[in-house]
Amino acid sequence: MAVDASKEDLLIGVCGAGAMGRGIVQVAAAGGVNVRVFDIDQDQLQDAVNFIDNMLGRAVEKGRMEEDAHKAAMGRIEMVDSMAGFGDCEIVIEAATENLEIKKKIFAEIESNVADGAIIATNTSSLSVTTIASACEKPERIAGFHFFNPVPLMRLVEVIDGVLTEPWVGDQLMTLGARMTREPVRLKDAPGFLVNQVGRGYNVETQHLQAECVGEFADLDRILREGAGFRMGPFELMDLTGLDVTHPASELIYRQFFDEPRYRPSSVMQSRMEAGILGRKTGRGYYRYEEGKKVEPEAKPVPDYDGRAVWVSKAEPDGHAALSEVVANCGAQIDNGDAPGADSLILVTPVGQEVTQAAVEQGLDATRTLGVDYLVGLGSHRTIATNPATKAEYRDSALGLLNADDVGATVVRDCPAFVCQRVLSTICNIGCQIAQLGTAEPEDIDKAVVLGLNYPSGPLTFGETLGPKNVLRILEGLYASYGDPRYRPSPWLRRRAMLGLSLFDTEI
Ligand SMILES: NC(=O)c1ccc[n+]([C@@H]2O[C@H](COP(=O)([O-])OP(=O)(O)OC[C@H]3O[C@@H](n4cnc5c(N)ncnc54)[C@H](O)[C@@H]3O)[C@@H](O)[C@H]2O)c1
Repeated sequence: MAVDASKEDLLIGVCGAGAMGRGIVQVAAAGGVNVRVFDIDQDQLQDAVNFIDNMLGRAVEKGRMEEDAHKAAMGRIEMVDSMAGFGDCEIVIEAATENLEIKKKIFAEIESNVADGAIIATNTSSLSVTTIASACEKPERIAGFHFFNPVPLMRLVEVIDGVLTEPWVGDQLMTLGARMTREPVRLKDAPGFLVNQVGRGYNVETQHLQAECVGEFADLDRILREGAGFRMGPFELMDLTGLDVTHPASELIYRQFFDEPRYRPSSVMQSRMEAGILGRKTGRGYYRYEEGKKVEPEAKPVPDYDGRAVWVSKAEPDGHAALSEVVANCGAQIDNGDAPGADSLILVTPVGQEVTQAAVEQGLDATRTLGVDYLVGLGSHRTIATNPATKAEYRDSALGLLNADDVGATVVRDCPAFVCQRVLSTICNIGCQIAQLGTAEPEDIDKAVVLGLNYPSGPLTFGETLGPKNVLRILEGLYASYGDPRYRPSPWLRRRAMLGLSLFDTEI
């Protein structure tokens, strides 16, 4: 091992001073590390240093930093006018334009300038670390060091070992990441690394739900925000990121996994991208934007509960208990019969099953039957699903009833596993597959996703909360309904669910 990232006078280099490079320089300098920075565009380089000075100045104004610390951080930054300036840097982080040919040339030039024992890391978000390393003379000292945008606000950094990376390289990047006041997470090279893989479960799965006309985008956003606790709905998020960024990234991960169905994007995303409805930046995405502000779609009127009797199926005992309590609290007249009365509203609480399937299997009158997703909890925004035979008066009755206590409810069309069950299980399944492939340790998968995506919890914790057995049922139900291997459960999940183990349990 040639590099000691913990030594006080460590000198690093950053190549590329765009959006990411400047953030990396800022957190390194603020963390006490000496940094040399280079950009092929000298104006961009000067602009980056001014930007950092400005950002740290604002931190001082807000009382988050002392003026002395600001000055000291700026004193640790040195602009260099060629990569020869990286000559005595012990670690160089490449954060230049996302293009394999450009990066290969940059790596060759950095390699020709630094000492034999120096580490060279890439901040690429979509290229394989191993592919970049394969173009280098010493691939064993190349690793990924993947920061998130905006760097000073996003604490996660993924430390990625390529196939030939020697373990000490990642160890030193873990130390450097911590010195830069980040939360480093270690993983093996994989398409989309860790966080960007998991993100597909949210965006892409919900896009499939919309494509199938299960619900309108704003309703799906609301269900996932208010029902499952995500900070932003997937469509709001896609609008913010831009479909020209989200869709190609999704397609790339899918292709890099040799057309793995779990990551298959929706063709609707492709069409919308080609039509130029990209999101905020074009003034129109899923939502419309006026002067940069989202125009909220008009709220739909909520009907009043018509007072008819409500019969709750006992097929799912937990669902029966939870929903019976809620409908009683909402002021429903309960139908306690063994079978529903002639005009009663019929509510079922399927797990991983369509309302249609539940109605047929239980011999219920489908015209009066709706499903309620109880699994994510009925104390937050509720999801009600119709089936193709449901009559409008029964839909309105259910919607009025489950809105009566102001928790809120939205009606969607039938699909196996409603919205939250389906999206959370898909995210969990991807997290489990990442664990199965040994890309990262279970705890690190959750840590990275919470820090990198701001989800209310990590994929394995979603699974623990719903119950691994339930997640397995949901995925098996989706798989049976669609016949699509997209939904095949990861062996990591299936084995642990069958054995009654936690999804965090590792194998000897
Ligand atoms: N923007 C993000 O959200 C984000 C997040 C994580 C990772 N990344 C990755 O970080 C890297 C940089 O992305 P960015 O958003 O900062 O891009 P950017 O376009 O803002 O900046 C790239 C910089 O690289 C410079 N550059 C190009 N060729 C160069 C060369 N030969 N030598 C030195 N500098 C050169 C450009 O002049 C530019 O200043 C990419 O690999 C990207 O995938 C980006």
